[in-house]
Amino acid sequence: MVKFISSAIKAILCLSASFPLASAFTNPVRNPGGSDPWMVYSGGYYYLMSTTWTDVQIARSETVDGLKTAEKKVVYTTTEASHCCNVWAPEVHYLGDKWYIYYTAGNADNLDGQNMHVLAGGSTPYDDYTYAGQLTNAWAIDGSVLRFNDWGNFLMFSCFHGVDYQSICLQQLGDDFVSLTGDITVISEPTEEFETHGTPVNEGPVALYVNGATQIVYSASYCWTPYYCLGLLTWDGSSDPRQASAWSKHDGCLLSSANGNYGTGHNSFFQSADGSETWIAYHATSNSSGACDDSRYTMVQPMIANSDGSLSFGEAATWEEVFEEPS
Ligand SMILES: *[C@@H]1O[C@H](CO)[C@@H](O)[C@H](O)[C@H]1NC(C)=O
Repeated sequence: MVKFISSAIKAILCLSASFPLASAFTNPVRNPGGSDPWMVYSGGYYYLMSTTWTDVQIARSETVDGLKTAEKKVVYTTTEASHCCNVWAPEVHYLGDKWYIYYTAGNADNLDGQNMHVLAGGSTPYDDYTYAGQLTNAWAIDGSVLRFNDWGNFLMFSCFHGVDYQSICLQQLGDDFVSLTGDITVISEPTEEFETHGTPVNEGPVALYVNGATQIVYSASYCWTPYYCLGLLTWDGSSDPRQASAWSKHDGCLLSSANGNYGTGHNSFFQSADGSETWIAYHATSNSSGACDDSRYTMVQPMIANSDGSLSFGEAATWEEVFEEPS
């Protein structure tokens, strides 16, 4: 009897060792409805933003795994015709002493009215938000904040600003964080082979500050193809960042379709709770033709820290891989 109990306990211990419940997770973290995943860690919570195309949602949990079942709190929705609909890519950023949500929205009829809008929030990402205005006056999507010590803050977004294809643009963010000032400049156009599958596209820019370098990770090629992938721009460290010549483009994709995940793109980076690890969240689809719709799911995995302080993206993970929670 004693022997039986002890082997039963052993079996339970063994089971919990191979399937740790509270401290690990598998992908995807959101499926479906996991496109353009924006994640941050703040004040004890991981936050994940999403949209059902007519609202801005935020979920939070103390663990990445907990995001799978966390409430999707709607922080904004409107019936205003000019920005009711086609809501895309909400991102929450801490600027000054408040959180702001930058997001894309347009009208219900077509995608011609897509522009950047901003919501002003409070001292945590989960506080109430109020609509603070439209930031752009010409087609613009996927806005994100880029910070420089010497040049201030910029909104970077995907635009057609005197160019034929969706490119990456910069415009200075006002001191109030809810306006843009100065000229719009184009810093990257989809000119390389890896950026031109389906149709040439540069979109979804996000900042990556690592190893003393200021970089922009962006999505390249058309999302209805399996070639949609992540590209990289690196600032030269001194020139006016509004000049395209201040940026060098990495040759090829840094994260691309693998292990049944197609069209790996439009990512965000977040720090682990103790700040020691950088993680990436990105979307992908199981459809080998690629997808731009709600079938996209959210993948979360750690960036690989190299001994010289740089980061590698690794490969899009399988759904079987068990990740320890960020430390
Ligand atoms: C995959 O994408 C293609 C092209 O958009 C579409 O025709 C097809 O129905 C999709 N397949 C599935 C299983 O959703």
